[in-house]
Amino acid sequence: MSQFWSDIVHKLTPYVPGEQPKLENLVKLNTNENPYGPSPKVIEALKLEAADSLRLYPDPNSDALKVAIAKVHQLNVNQVFVGNGSDEVLAHVFQALLKHSRPLLFPDITYSFYPVYCGLYDIEYQTIPLAEDFTFNVEDYQQPNGGIIFPNPNAPTGIPLALVDIESLLKKNTQSVVVIDEAYVDFGTDSAVSLINTYPNLLVVHTLSKARSLAGLRVGYALGHADLIEALIRVKDSFNSYPIDRFASAGAIAAMQDVAYFEETCRKVITTREVLIQNLTQLGFEVLPSGANFIFAKHNAKHGAEISAALREKSIIVRHFKMPSRISDYMRITIGTNAQTEQLVKALKEILNTSVVSLKA
Ligand SMILES: Cc1ncc(COP(=O)(O)O)c(C=O)c1O
Repeated sequence: MSQFWSDIVHKLTPYVPGEQPKLENLVKLNTNENPYGPSPKVIEALKLEAADSLRLYPDPNSDALKVAIAKVHQLNVNQVFVGNGSDEVLAHVFQALLKHSRPLLFPDITYSFYPVYCGLYDIEYQTIPLAEDFTFNVEDYQQPNGGIIFPNPNAPTGIPLALVDIESLLKKNTQSVVVIDEAYVDFGTDSAVSLINTYPNLLVVHTLSKARSLAGLRVGYALGHADLIEALIRVKDSFNSYPIDRFASAGAIAAMQDVAYFEETCRKVITTREVLIQNLTQLGFEVLPSGANFIFAKHNAKHGAEISAALREKSIIVRHFKMPSRISDYMRITIGTNAQTEQLVKALKEILNTSVVSLKA
């Protein structure tokens, strides 16, 4: 029945999200969720929201949530935009701020939703190769462009970019919007939010799916100059008046307010990450430096595809990117609890000891 499709649909290559398996008792380390669950205060707030008021639409402007977010980041409310997950926020950013006559620039290895949005909104883009060691060189972005976007820390590598480098990029790139997707920033990377009041072309995107453990609630936000936020609001109000439902608003406010829980769980994830890196290194993995709640690693003798398939046999799922490229030997492993990490390391020891036949040629 595809004769009924709009032209653009024929050309789309949709994003493929990490698997959400229906099986129980899996150690799920494939989509960078938080192993600790949201703050107990979030659960209390959600229970209170299950009430008669659900018959009413939520606040279309999500004012109370914006106030809570602005307070955490010490910004004004008109510097905050909220959406249904940062994926929706990013979609609006692409449409509202990144579609110009010059190409949008982003790294060749990065969040794979970016080219998908470009396809959806017909945005011309150019990928800039990361260095051999997967680091990001700001000098490579000194060229005419219609915008720049990248995650910090980058995904799926996890490598953080220092704030001085971001500031040097912003100093040289004043004529287009620079979007920094800080989905994983709270796990040990410096945030660029502190630069927002100095650079009116800087937009920083955050999510509550990772450090605040609310992937299931779908809340994300953007922070930047009020003029950039106004563009996003215009697109949002031409798309969906109520992207944040009553539960999402109540839960997200409680999560933003419980700073102590947020800091404690982030610290735990970072500590476990460092232990995992040590263990993997001893097992012959090369692990890229990570400022995220995941690590990107390859083994010195066995392919990533093979190891991830063997882990799956042992009910542990990690993410392996199949496309033929310089990352095809790597696996992206989400940081779980200490117990999950021990299970992972034990499974890897078994897998790596049992196969000599499959060693790389
Ligand atoms: C770099 C990056 N940005 C944005 C997102 C989207 O997060 P969400 O839509 O859950 O807020 C993800 C999700 O994994 C991500 O990896």
